[in-house]
Amino acid sequence: MIVLAKEIQTAAYLFASILFILSLGGLSSQESAKRGVVYGIVGMIVAIIATVLGQGVAGHVYIIGAIAIASVIGLMLARKVEMTSMPQLVAILHSFVGLAAVLVGFGSYLDPKSHELTGAAHIIHLVEVFAGIFIGAITFTGSIIAWGKLDGKVPSKPWSFKGLQTMNLILLLVCIALGVLFCRAHGTEGMLYLMIMTAIASFIGIVLVMAIGGGDMPVVVSMLNSYSGWAASAAGFMLGNDLLIVTGALVGSSGAILSMHMCHAMNRPFFSVIFASGSGNGSGGEKKAMEGEVTALNHEEVAALLKEAKSVVIVPGYGMAVAKAQYPIYDMVQTLRKAGKNVRFAIHPVAGRLPGHMNVLLAEANVPYDIVLEMDEINDDMPDTDVVMVIGANDVVNPSAQDDPASSIYGMPVIEAWKAEKVIIMKRSMSAGYSGEDNPLFYKPNSEMLYGDAKASVEKLLSYLKA
Ligand code: TAP
Repeated sequence: MIVLAKEIQTAAYLFASILFILSLGGLSSQESAKRGVVYGIVGMIVAIIATVLGQGVAGHVYIIGAIAIASVIGLMLARKVEMTSMPQLVAILHSFVGLAAVLVGFGSYLDPKSHELTGAAHIIHLVEVFAGIFIGAITFTGSIIAWGKLDGKVPSKPWSFKGLQTMNLILLLVCIALGVLFCRAHGTEGMLYLMIMTAIASFIGIVLVMAIGGGDMPVVVSMLNSYSGWAASAAGFMLGNDLLIVTGALVGSSGAILSMHMCHAMNRPFFSVIFASGSGNGSGGEKKAMEGEVTALNHEEVAALLKEAKSVVIVPGYGMAVAKAQYPIYDMVQTLRKAGKNVRFAIHPVAGRLPGHMNVLLAEANVPYDIVLEMDEINDDMPDTDVVMVIGANDVVNPSAQDDPASSIYGMPVIEAWKAEKVIIMKRSMSAGYSGEDNPLFYKPNSEMLYGDAKASVEKLLSYLKA
């Protein structure tokens, strides 16, 4: 097997780091996203080859075998996964990074060479091991809970109790004390402290994410993304691998920036979400009762309303993604526009289950960008809109976010659909949105339900509109 000279490996690492930075840059807009992904793939191939062929690496057969098996599994998963299940996949991949950091930490501590270190180098190594395992364990269990919440295996409602923050703070202090003891320990004692801390950190990961409500999950997923980056960076320090340190730091800092943007978009204090100090702004008191009556129209009646309307706004949500309704929706938009109506889309920053989820789906159906508006750009136009069609959206149009302090989504900016002349809500039932909160919009006097699968309903509407 060829063994690369240290200088060539360093140059390859530098090249891979540049490709990763270009990749992140590319992912910042839809037009350049594909190029960004290609940069990332090439960077990762260069990184793996340079690492496997590096000096001091043994057991190439096992490494290549493991890479081959993992690549096949990854490829199969990526081909099979539905767009709507992408967040779950991302969450479970974060958990792998966390687990890897924990295993690298234990491996590094057990490595006899690490015990040959003395003085400051020894202490620094122990701190790297301790911090790497701590972050890795939180990322591992937190990501598994996030996967469960996104996949519907764990209830999306926040699970919390009085004193949770105090308990978390005490556990954090205990971990710091264990860290001090660990750095001073001799013999097998250190392993014991490490194992206790791993158990505590794993527990913290679980309760931190359990306490966060469905509405705040976007921030949690991007924060776990950031943690997984820091965990990888810590593993890089333990292994003395510069590329892993740089890549981990890139993921860690970009994930943290994304989380802050998400918090800003959702009007959530960053630290209250991260430390689960009460999910969102909800006071946890008595929620407002639903007032009013729910009324429904049939497809023919809704089509008649649309024929009358001059301005129409479509608010898509997760249900549009589930139903894959974007193609008939664009057909309907074209039909209405040909009839001289002003038709636009209103996109909430966290509609669906992924950042930019709705934008990606609408772009897939070739909807022109100029009729796709962000929530802030279109909310002021709602009072002058004749018909708002809420297609498979729920939380993002929930008025409780503005007027019910007890709601877990209170304070989150929402699309003010209820201010339009008429609101048509297209969904299959009266079920709550992802946050688990009921939606008073359905009970408003100017709201009408149109029950059914979003795709089937839009196709039916189209047939009436074209008739
Ligand atoms: P949701 O609140 O999840 O509501 C979606 C609605 O779609 C449901 O109430 C469901 O009602 C309906 N639906 C499902 N399948 C349908 C189908 N085939 N046809 C028609 N309707 C269907 O969606 P949203 O308004 O987009 O809000 C997103 C939520 O997810 C927010 O709470 C957000 O914080 C959270 N979240 C977002 C992200 C990101 S980054 N976007 C990540 C994680 C979590 P029926 O069952 O009655 O049909």
